[in-house]
Amino acid sequence: MPSRRLCLALLPWLALAVHAEQPPASLRAAYANAFLIGAALDTAKINGDNPRASEIVARQFSSLTAENDMKWSAIHPEPDRYNFHPADAYVDFGARHTMAVIGHTLVWHNQTPPWVFLGDDGKPASRELLLPRLRDHIHTVVGRYRGRVKGWDVVNEVVRDNGPEVLRDTPWQRIIGDDYLDHAFRFAREADPRAELYYNDYGLFNREKRARALRMLRGLIARGVPIDGVGLQGHYQIDYPPVAEIEQAILDFASLGLKVMITELDVDVLPSRGQIGAADIARREDYEAALNPWVNGLPEAEQTRLARRYADLFALFLKHRKTITRVTFWGLDDGQSWLNNFPVPGRTSYPLLFDRQLNPKPAFRAVFDAAR
Ligand code: GLA
Repeated sequence: MPSRRLCLALLPWLALAVHAEQPPASLRAAYANAFLIGAALDTAKINGDNPRASEIVARQFSSLTAENDMKWSAIHPEPDRYNFHPADAYVDFGARHTMAVIGHTLVWHNQTPPWVFLGDDGKPASRELLLPRLRDHIHTVVGRYRGRVKGWDVVNEVVRDNGPEVLRDTPWQRIIGDDYLDHAFRFAREADPRAELYYNDYGLFNREKRARALRMLRGLIARGVPIDGVGLQGHYQIDYPPVAEIEQAILDFASLGLKVMITELDVDVLPSRGQIGAADIARREDYEAALNPWVNGLPEAEQTRLARRYADLFALFLKHRKTITRVTFWGLDDGQSWLNNFPVPGRTSYPLLFDRQLNPKPAFRAVFDAAR
């Protein structure tokens, strides 16, 4: 038996050894056996302008999505001009840090320049013009990153929020017809046969909207349209929707044989009015001080509430780890989140795992601990 004195002398070293063996607090390591864990990022976080943010991203995440730079208006602003420079930077960053790059998004009714839907004469484009234009765009963009982008949000947010009709009324639908969806997926498969192809939308925890989405997806599958997965955006509130509703959505989409991803996760802690859970970026509400209660910092009790909500969400995601292939946060830190300006402009929002100084919040710890 070693003497008591020897034990005491060894204690600090033992503590050090135990400490050294602690896994570093890296989400990508903690979730390595569960699913990809990603973040949507603005350009400064990957192009060298914000090295501290880049370091955090590379250490914490195994996947990345460009928050805006692969959307039509950014990557193809004019008929004969593509702007690949920013998008290239995401793909290079992903390759350098062995992160799965997700392409977002090919077909959407927002952030698509008006010229896309017009002919040379300034009149609305015809199907004969728009369909080849869509094909060119998809072939050019997906083709450029062939083999380097793991999967594409081919179509974003085409299911209606209300009413009996399934498809949203958009220029895509009005000009081409309902089959623009089928074509978009087929063009993407032609351009990169190995990339995964996804449908992405918000509010799919809502039973009625989900029923419409399931109907649309069943149709695609029945027609042999290539689709691999569905992205549940996951813009949640602190107390809505209940975890059980999110679970039902995961089960329903998985039952179609599709991969399920949580693609735009954030949790809004600010008071809300109006349509809770509708993440349609066209939605706007007027500013009111009562809707912006924590301008100088989030009180501790709210931090704890947020951490609990994240713990509950990740317990659910881990329970369905066989179905869920990726969970992506919509942003890295609170300072840069779109929720500072949605649906009410000019608020101080706290939806993510890192604070405005890029320090991990209690919510980070909760997500990290959930995996252990
Ligand atoms: C939607 C889109 C995203 C992003 C968010 C808000 O969810 O899919 O690209 O624009 O809105 O920023």
